[in-house]
Amino acid sequence: PIRLGIISAMHQEQAGLIDNLLDAHTIRRGMRDYVTGSLWDIDCVCVLSRLGKVAAAATAATLIERFGVTHIVFTGVAGAGDRDVRVGDIVIARQLVQHDLDASPLFPRHEVPLTGQSLFVPDQRLTDQLLQAAGDFLDQDFPAVIDIADRDAFRLHRPRIHQGLIASGDEFISKRTRLEELKTALPELQAVEMEGAAVAQVCFEFGVPYAVIRTISDAANEDAPVDFLKFIERVASRYAFGIVRRLCAN
Ligand code: ADE
Repeated sequence: PIRLGIISAMHQEQAGLIDNLLDAHTIRRGMRDYVTGSLWDIDCVCVLSRLGKVAAAATAATLIERFGVTHIVFTGVAGAGDRDVRVGDIVIARQLVQHDLDASPLFPRHEVPLTGQSLFVPDQRLTDQLLQAAGDFLDQDFPAVIDIADRDAFRLHRPRIHQGLIASGDEFISKRTRLEELKTALPELQAVEMEGAAVAQVCFEFGVPYAVIRTISDAANEDAPVDFLKFIERVASRYAFGIVRRLCAN
């Protein structure tokens, strides 16, 4: 049977989902609350990892080893990694990389030593299902669940869905010049965040299918700290809720 682990870094990215868990039970482990229950008839475990790769890796490993999840979805926000990617757009990972991992000259830059992996590839089926869910959410739910005032405030006209490379690192990107450096090393970059590729490595090592979906909260530039906080406060959880509802109900 399926048991879906749902990870977000911060409370604001997952609030609506936890409120809707049926038969919710909270189990505290390693300073995190794992909330088991069912979402639209799917057995789920929701948890907040907190920020960064280590936090995300520990959480993913615990979900797998202690809670026996069969699949993991990470939902949260990210900074835009390309000019075509705007605040309010959705980025779905087809590849993930740890942009701050560099054991050269012993191993190629970005390669996870002794695994031979640089780019982690999420489960295709689960990722396709997320893509469908995100499309349904934008087409059918988005106008109703995102306030007109918020749509104006964030200039969220017709969000788009992008698929491609997401880069994770223990760094909040808030300088245009830093983003350019990442872009030079990883030209296909679509979004930057701080957890996805860590979850990917753990899931790869345990053979657990996973997928990562991110809503763009900021442009990873000098405005990022302010834009990020506004976005997570006002709209992030409504995306997560809408997309996961579609994923589970489909
Ligand atoms: N998550 C959301 N915005 C981010 C940014 N600019 N850098 C890293 N992680 C993020």
